[in-house]
Amino acid sequence: MAAPSTTNDRGSWNSKLGFILAAAGSAVGLGNIWGFPTQVASNGGGAFLLIYLLCSFLIGFPVMTAELTMGRKTGKNPFGAFKAIRPDSKFYPLIGLWGVICGVMILSFYTVVAGWAFSYVFAELFFFLEMPAASAWFADIGNGVLSAVLATLFMVATVGIITGGVSGGIERATKTLMPTLIGILIILIGYILFQPGAYEGIRTYLYPDFTSITPTLIFDAMGQAFFSLSLGMGALITYGSYLNKKENIPQAAAFVTLADVGIAFLAGFLIIPAMYMAQNAGVEIFNEAGQLLEEDTLVFQVLPELFHTIGMPVGLIFGVTFFFLLSIAALTSTISLLEVPVAFAIDEFGWRRKVAARVVGVGILAVSILVAFNQSLIGTFVTIFNGVGLPLGGFLICYFIAYVWKTDNALDEMELGYVNIRQSLFSKIWPLFIKIVCPLAILYVLIQKLVESFG
Ligand code: PHE
Repeated sequence: MAAPSTTNDRGSWNSKLGFILAAAGSAVGLGNIWGFPTQVASNGGGAFLLIYLLCSFLIGFPVMTAELTMGRKTGKNPFGAFKAIRPDSKFYPLIGLWGVICGVMILSFYTVVAGWAFSYVFAELFFFLEMPAASAWFADIGNGVLSAVLATLFMVATVGIITGGVSGGIERATKTLMPTLIGILIILIGYILFQPGAYEGIRTYLYPDFTSITPTLIFDAMGQAFFSLSLGMGALITYGSYLNKKENIPQAAAFVTLADVGIAFLAGFLIIPAMYMAQNAGVEIFNEAGQLLEEDTLVFQVLPELFHTIGMPVGLIFGVTFFFLLSIAALTSTISLLEVPVAFAIDEFGWRRKVAARVVGVGILAVSILVAFNQSLIGTFVTIFNGVGLPLGGFLICYFIAYVWKTDNALDEMELGYVNIRQSLFSKIWPLFIKIVCPLAILYVLIQKLVESFG
């Protein structure tokens, strides 16, 4: 059964598993393997992990349920979804439009970092083939031309899959790749846990130093949770719009949240110890003040060290496969990022899917190329569109559902695929979170950060 659709170019998911994997594919990406460990490192370890987990489960999960429900109810892109629920309002659809803008801007730097991951497939390959010059060329991700070419490659692949449509393109691509990524992560963790220096890494990762909890740490953890779960910009409103009425939304959201948090948690077990191992091998991971370096490229420095200490041939196999799978994980996320503005163009302007994907793709690529040559923009974009933009979007979505659409109507929509929902504990707690806990928590964190930054 197809989800409600207004144009032939919308499409719908083919199977329950396909949807869940695509949503998990959207969630699992650079956020888990690049963003999360980098943030753990720069925020001092265990305390960040703790706040991140709280944000994911207490704010992320309720908001994810909310987004999917709004999407399935309306069968629209984020802008259209707000309009469908309140057709008389000029203001509310702007919330959706803000989401579309955040998606576009996030995608513009995401393709660059994804390109780096892909570049390292070759850096590792040539390293083990004992071709150091070629290896160094691919490892030099500060090179603007290299970054721009790879970002272009990524955008072309993303547009190609999006053009293939919802079930044929997006669903098929995610199904086999996700499980393989989890497999290789676990094997690598098994290896690293027995290496010298691993213990120190694990201790940093798991031991929370409560004195390091500052407004900035909480702000970073909340932004990271929203980014990693693909929330706050309507990616999951869009994915929800292709969803069958028989699906149990809270259950699907719980699965996607657990999968995403689980993979980030696993990635931490690999990368934080790898940082300490790399330090033993001479890579600089601390600054003069003794804090772990906060660098967008840190993960790309320490992981190759790990593969190089493993040595031939296992290091080669792990190195190449790992970066290849990371690229694929990034691709299943870029697909969902691009799908948001594409669905917007299809729904609102009546464009054909193919045209929408190409036009929007080229537009975003122009910004990507700018980022490739000015890489310090990444940090700026992360702060504005990820750190502030996504939680702000989440806040507005909660506000809208709680006080405009009403949580009771949302529960009615969920009931279609979850018959006993009214008897469940979920139906008592979720509205409370959407009305009070999530919006207040988000607002509090944003204001605290503002005060800390400018106070
Ligand atoms: N969740 C993705 C990741 O962790 C990034 C993303 C953010 C995707 C927002 C879609 C929407 O890499």
